[in-house]
Amino acid sequence: MSKVPHLVQYQGSKRILAPKITAYFPTRFNRLIEPFCGTGALTIYSATKSLCKKYILNDINTQIVDMIDECINNPEKLYEEYKSIWEKQFLEGVDKIDYYYKMRDKFNEAESIPALTLFILARVAKGAIRYNSSGKMNQICDKRRNGTKPETIKNNAFDISHLLKGKTTLYSMDYREILKMAQKGDLIYMDPPYQGVAHGLSSRYLYSLPFDEFVKSLEYLNARGIDYIVSYDGKTGDKTFGKDLPEYLGCKHILIEAGRSSQATLNGKKAYTLESLYISEKLWKRDA
Ligand SMILES: C[S@@+](CC[C@H](N)C(=O)[O-])C[C@H]1O[C@@H](n2cnc3c(N)ncnc32)[C@H](O)[C@@H]1O
Repeated sequence: MSKVPHLVQYQGSKRILAPKITAYFPTRFNRLIEPFCGTGALTIYSATKSLCKKYILNDINTQIVDMIDECINNPEKLYEEYKSIWEKQFLEGVDKIDYYYKMRDKFNEAESIPALTLFILARVAKGAIRYNSSGKMNQICDKRRNGTKPETIKNNAFDISHLLKGKTTLYSMDYREILKMAQKGDLIYMDPPYQGVAHGLSSRYLYSLPFDEFVKSLEYLNARGIDYIVSYDGKTGDKTFGKDLPEYLGCKHILIEAGRSSQATLNGKKAYTLESLYISEKLWKRDA
């Protein structure tokens, strides 16, 4: 498959950067493990390029994992249910914005319903499912769009399923539990939440990630000789986000171009965003 399928927008998705990031992958590895998978852009891209045969996807957000699971293992059901939810916003007498807020209430109250999560992501502003301090998703909808058309969802969901069904195991737990499952010969790609924006009322993701605890996890992988690559913040113009990972970890620090900053463009400036990529010591030394 040459076209890379894409299910739905998700803030922080590595869809656009996937070719640049996978360029640092080793030529051979057993399993690709994504402990902070979100919508799994790197896994989908890797499967499109047949970079490996087995994948582990994990995210602490169960609603996202359930949606990806349904997409891989039951795309027809995901499509049918999404279509039904999506079409109801156009019924006579229904206000599309009110409908989104009703669906958002349901999303916050009901158990995880994959097609509903998909609808919310398709309609939410900037693909950002922000949660308030009591864990309720409180992001507004994008008023200019109606959300991806069901037929587009269908095509992409079937393509993703074709790529990953029978090759992928999904979990929803803390990333550290997933790291324990890794073995030598696996490759772990980690894309944790940005430092500094993962707390409080407008948190981007459900859970924050303490820096020191994350560094300890990387020490743990080093001690076990497991290869990893981490996307961890970066900089826009001369503004740097987040702390660098400590040098003693031995990682190679690379900055990859992530395009023009939309915020800087709004402020009338031309600034480029660079994203940090850290390659574990054993991995870069082997390829050097
Ligand atoms: C930057 S996003 C990943 C985006 C992903 N690379 C993609 O392409 O869609 C970070 C993800 O980490 C998840 N997360 C946050 N804390 C976590 C934890 N302690 N363990 C596992 N996942 C976590 C969030 O729910 C979020 O989906």
